[in-house]
Amino acid sequence: MANIQFRDLQRQYEHIKDQIDSRVSSVVTSSRFISGPEVKELESVLAEYVGVKHCITCANGTDAISIALMAHGVGEGDAVFVPDFTFFSSGECPATVGATPVFVDVDDETYNMNPVSLEAAVEAVIKEGQYKPKAVVAVDLFGQPFDVPAIKAVCKKYDLLLLEDGAQGFGGSYKDDSGVRMACSLGDIATTSFFPAKPLGCYGDGGAIFTNDDNIALLCRSIAVHGKDTQNLDDPNAKYNNIRLGLNSRLDTLQAGVVLGKFDTFKDEELEGINKVADKYSQLLGDVSGIKLPVVKPGMFSSWAQYTLQLPEGADRAAIQKRLKDDGIPTNIYYIKPMHLQGAFAGTRSAVATCPITEKLCKTVLCLPIHPYLTDSEIELVAAKLKEAIG
Ligand SMILES: Cc1ncc(COP(=O)(O)O)c(C=O)c1O
Repeated sequence: MANIQFRDLQRQYEHIKDQIDSRVSSVVTSSRFISGPEVKELESVLAEYVGVKHCITCANGTDAISIALMAHGVGEGDAVFVPDFTFFSSGECPATVGATPVFVDVDDETYNMNPVSLEAAVEAVIKEGQYKPKAVVAVDLFGQPFDVPAIKAVCKKYDLLLLEDGAQGFGGSYKDDSGVRMACSLGDIATTSFFPAKPLGCYGDGGAIFTNDDNIALLCRSIAVHGKDTQNLDDPNAKYNNIRLGLNSRLDTLQAGVVLGKFDTFKDEELEGINKVADKYSQLLGDVSGIKLPVVKPGMFSSWAQYTLQLPEGADRAAIQKRLKDDGIPTNIYYIKPMHLQGAFAGTRSAVATCPITEKLCKTVLCLPIHPYLTDSEIELVAAKLKEAIG
């Protein structure tokens, strides 16, 4: 039977063992486990790669979203617009800072927030008059940046903060007449996650925030470390001077070392490798009637956090997954439930949403194994077995 991993971190480790081992050993030897030099080194490497002034690392991609919202004063009475089809954090964080997430339908081809649905949701909130439209969480779902020009235009029209949730999109990019811009530089502020299975993952939890705004960067740094006084960093006692409420959300040094150990291979080999895998899937599955393949729009470059297709409506998804599993092929469903139907939002304004595309996607999507270390014969096997299972 095939030994195909959904995301093969063991093969990755075998490929980059020397870099990882040397980074880990250097952290252990120095024993600077919290706020060691690797943390600053990583922040400067990532800020340069993304093309923004500041990168502030933190404990995970969820905290990164919360910290970014807190730094912009998003809270009670504010409406934050979030795609209905995403991982829970995108909507959980606005709610945990006291705001009201308002869920918006997505595009049937890219699975990203639909700008027409966004504008309709903003207008509805204005008409209701209960909440102030304040921010948009635009997710780079499955690796592809959100619809940058159209979402930006809505944010500009209604004076909304644009937060790019790049947890799945790191390494992707968007190109227009003014050039190429990397994911995590596409909003007013952006966040990412280094969860192990993400495009650039660590060996535990980790995250980062990206901004060009000096004041917001200082605020994020402060909030990430218990609201410490970040204005007077030369004062050795400043870290015990807490001037606001914050979180305990540092990225630990070992995780920073792991991301640094992976970074060159990620940018020089893995991004291209994973795009070849996605292209090969699309080429092999293009003739299967009834299924819809993921679409990367012109100007977009995806880092392929997931390869997510839509099965024919009415297909027995569970039976297809079981057949593939019996052949040694793991699959997943991202996502099985629209955000507005999550129990956590039951009975709140957030539970009110009309999102037919999301509801259809939740019933039909299937995510295939994808990582840069899949061989051609493995990709061919997955495609052939999927075709057999669909029948
Ligand atoms: C779109 C999205 N946002 C936020 C997160 C949260 O990241 P973390 O798991 O690092 O908290 C994830 C993680 O799966 C995600 O996919």
